[in-house]
Amino acid sequence: MPNTTWNRHHILSLSDFTTFEYNAVLQTAASFQEVLSRRTKKVPTLQGQVVANLFFEPSTRTRSSFEIAAKRLSADTLNFASSTSSMTKGETILDTAKTYLAMGTDIMVIRHKDAGVPQAIAQEMDNLGVKVSVLNAGDGQHEHPSQGLLDLFTICSLIDPNNPRIELLKGKKIAIVGDILHSRVARSNIWSLTASGAEVHLAAPPTLLPKYFAEYLGVTKGYQRLFTHWHIEPALENADFVMTLRLQKERMTSHLLPSLREYHQLFGLTYDRIKKCQPHVKVLHPGPVNRGVEISSDLMDNPEISLIQNQVTSGVAVRMALLYFIGSGRHYS
Ligand code: NCD
Repeated sequence: MPNTTWNRHHILSLSDFTTFEYNAVLQTAASFQEVLSRRTKKVPTLQGQVVANLFFEPSTRTRSSFEIAAKRLSADTLNFASSTSSMTKGETILDTAKTYLAMGTDIMVIRHKDAGVPQAIAQEMDNLGVKVSVLNAGDGQHEHPSQGLLDLFTICSLIDPNNPRIELLKGKKIAIVGDILHSRVARSNIWSLTASGAEVHLAAPPTLLPKYFAEYLGVTKGYQRLFTHWHIEPALENADFVMTLRLQKERMTSHLLPSLREYHQLFGLTYDRIKKCQPHVKVLHPGPVNRGVEISSDLMDNPEISLIQNQVTSGVAVRMALLYFIGSGRHYS
């Protein structure tokens, strides 16, 4: 029998998300989207709870989005930036987390440049026997579940704003283009989009989409609907949605590209290129964007085609839904 209650205490990855969980997030985010359109945009759901944003890596939209989401749910928020914290004096990550625990934090939203840090803190909280929930806001190249879910919500609510659900993507063709190798956004999206029944086409130069990556996902994981291309054209052919990704220069340890100009020529999204897609194609980007590299400026700014601003708006409602699920049930589990 399919699971019909929310049992997840931490949100660390989408790899084991169920259809029930995807749809619960989509439906709840739609309700919060409605709340956000009202004159009074606040609900008392997390009144008295503390949400700490522990960002050990730079962020603009994810951090602000979690902060406003927590505030709309009436939680108290704490913000931390590693550059101005006691970590500069040698404090460890776990000790920083325990300091926030001692201040009464209920939910820790964690971003770190290394994969596995939110998981390690969640494990530590569980070992201590405290009911603190951890939400992964992006760990290294591993996962960025709230971004994967907001991308899913952006697409599904465009198709059916009144009833967004994962089944709406069945049979749709979605291209993910760019620095797949270093992208946690791509990894989380691969889980959610393949779970939806969409056909997912990854496209990047071989240095950013190594054969082992494709083989691992395609063969080891048995994905039937995941395709990889070292040219952009086959990925774009008849695509319904195209997600383009930033070149993550901060994670590149060697020269993986001849030049940004050549990358744009071969993989940049332009009006001319998207003619190969469906006429109704929409373009997504998690941000921050390097204009003129992964996408041309004019295409990015066209609200008829670009969903980039919708993604940012959706992010608040989706993060409210995630905080709601891990925050409101915690005292009863
Ligand atoms: C992404 C991230 O941090 O992984 N951005 C985001 O969260 N909005 C993608 C990126 O940095 O390119």
